[in-house]
Amino acid sequence: MTSRNVAHDEYYGIQTIGVTKAFDGVKALDDVTFTIPIFGMTSIVGPNGSGKSTLVNLLTGVLPFDEGIVKIETNSFSVIHAHETPDHGITRTFQEVRLFDQMTVWDNMMVVLTNRKLFPSMIERSKSEHRDKAEEILKQVGMWEKRESMAGELSYGQRKLLEIGRAMALDVQVYILDEPFAGLFPQMLERVKDLLRDIRSNGRTVVFISHNMDIVRELSDHIIVLESGKFLLAGEVEDILNRPEVIRAYLGA
Ligand SMILES: Nc1ncnc2c1ncn2[C@@H]1O[C@H](COP(=O)(O)OP(=O)(O)OP(=O)(O)O)[C@@H](O)[C@H]1O
Ligand SMILES: [Mg+2]
Repeated sequence: MTSRNVAHDEYYGIQTIGVTKAFDGVKALDDVTFTIPIFGMTSIVGPNGSGKSTLVNLLTGVLPFDEGIVKIETNSFSVIHAHETPDHGITRTFQEVRLFDQMTVWDNMMVVLTNRKLFPSMIERSKSEHRDKAEEILKQVGMWEKRESMAGELSYGQRKLLEIGRAMALDVQVYILDEPFAGLFPQMLERVKDLLRDIRSNGRTVVFISHNMDIVRELSDHIIVLESGKFLLAGEVEDILNRPEVIRAYLGA
């Protein structure tokens, strides 16, 4: 089985220990140690350039890290391969939405669902099963009516919804979303909030990056704060958002 579908008590979460990543000698992440709680929703916050996306890119093997260890469940990694991310029980979206623009919304979903690298265990499954899943998710993210449209013709918000749908096609424990709310109109914001709540209510772990402190306060149970590539602090939402260091980090943003 590749994709992980496990209960909370079987999944021990994600932890980084002393993780460092530099670009051309400049540390985007500097000796970062934290744990993402497996229960509920965790937001990762911090000013522009504080290393949030880099962190997610390291956890999902999009970028290699220079030093440190990432622990996922009971396994420790000094190298993470992107194609193994579903094996680690993780799916994600990108800050810059990544779709196949020349393909329809429907085909963008089917590509994920029929990806043999992601789902070797599903090769034998019937095409109708993939189609049912694609339909279910497109309806859930509100993109069913748009299924025949080319992805490249979608609005910004619709592209975000489709990308979240593609991440949701993987039946895993942890969903990491890099700025799912950025640039959305209020109606779309509400839809994405509901989607995240739906994922969480199925017992999954939701991790999202956001600059919108109202949404962070409203949705998250836990917060991890980065500042200039360093771990600043982490904890329960109300506790953290009222700390002077956090307020200062944001005023400095
Ligand atoms: N591929 C890359 N090559 C070179 N530098 C990079 C690369 N990715 C990130 N950086 C640098 O690393 C630092 C952290 O960037 P990152 O994108 O992780 O920040 P962020 O917290 O996600 O910011 P934002 O809120 O603007 O999305 C920045 O200084 C950025 O310029
Ligand atoms: Mg970012």
